[in-house]
Amino acid sequence: MFTAATAAALVMTATSGFAACDDGEIVVKFAHVTNTDKHPKGIAASLLEQRVNDEMNGVMCMEVFPNSTLYNDDQVLEAMLQGDVQMAAPSLSKFEQFTKVFRIFDLPFMFSDIEAVDAFQSSDTGQAMKESMTRRGLLGLGFWHNGMKQMSANKPLLVPEDANGLKFRVQNSDVLKAQMSAMGASPQPMAFSEVYGALQTGVVDGQENTWSNIYGQKFFEVQDGTTETNHGVLDYMLVTSTDWWDSLPDEVRTQLNTIVQEVTETRNAAVGEVDAAARQAILDAGGVIRELTPQQRAAWLEAMKPVWTQFEGDVGADNIAAAQSFNA
Ligand code: LMR
Repeated sequence: MFTAATAAALVMTATSGFAACDDGEIVVKFAHVTNTDKHPKGIAASLLEQRVNDEMNGVMCMEVFPNSTLYNDDQVLEAMLQGDVQMAAPSLSKFEQFTKVFRIFDLPFMFSDIEAVDAFQSSDTGQAMKESMTRRGLLGLGFWHNGMKQMSANKPLLVPEDANGLKFRVQNSDVLKAQMSAMGASPQPMAFSEVYGALQTGVVDGQENTWSNIYGQKFFEVQDGTTETNHGVLDYMLVTSTDWWDSLPDEVRTQLNTIVQEVTETRNAAVGEVDAAARQAILDAGGVIRELTPQQRAAWLEAMKPVWTQFEGDVGADNIAAAQSFNA
């Protein structure tokens, strides 16, 4: 009988391309929300899947579920704690319920570019953040880059006043809500998979995201244009459950971790190319990209920076100073 479950299984096989796992293999389900081939996270997850399945064949088997086909980011961490999924890479903004230390990454204009983000994440302060949620049952395995965020709306955005009164989709993060309020806009938290429809139907007027997400989800098709603000960062934590990680035999955990660290290093080093290709693809598809003059950009910074004071207590003045020291 062809049931709904059969249909769902076929869709998953078609979208993720994973081979069936063999009996006796440790199954690792990895759920994420982006496409697989033109996106920093999707490419990294697919490479991880391929390497685990090639190099750990017979021992471990990874199945990647992209495009929110298994869980969206609001569900995936709870599912991980229930043991229903073993890996995920939500953006750092999505860990609000588990730790406040990642709030530093959401603070607008904290990092000048992805190189500064990388240097901060690689520092002792950044590396310690991977263990900030172990008390709550989650372990960070590595930071995965996406890129700097841009701002789009159904009208041109050149100065912060242009955003006044508009409704902006945000990830569910208190910092991002405060950032939009500081611009006189109204923040509307929403799952990633719902954003295109909300922009198209006018439920929201605008959004902020990286080039690869704006391209991958086709947001540019339902917006007047995108302004190259580079005002914030959107990065990920590759995360697993402490219970599951600790349950692995030592040599299996060591081999998996080696592959994870190598994939992380390789794909983080290549993120600039994926980001630039997505930006170019938007232009090639007829999307509008607006650049800011230094004066216009300074006005965005002035409007958003007061948000730092609001969250300094959560983030720590010393961490802010450390982050700033990596800006060129
Ligand atoms: C978003 O919700 O906008 C992003 O976190 C999606 C993603 O995973 O890049």
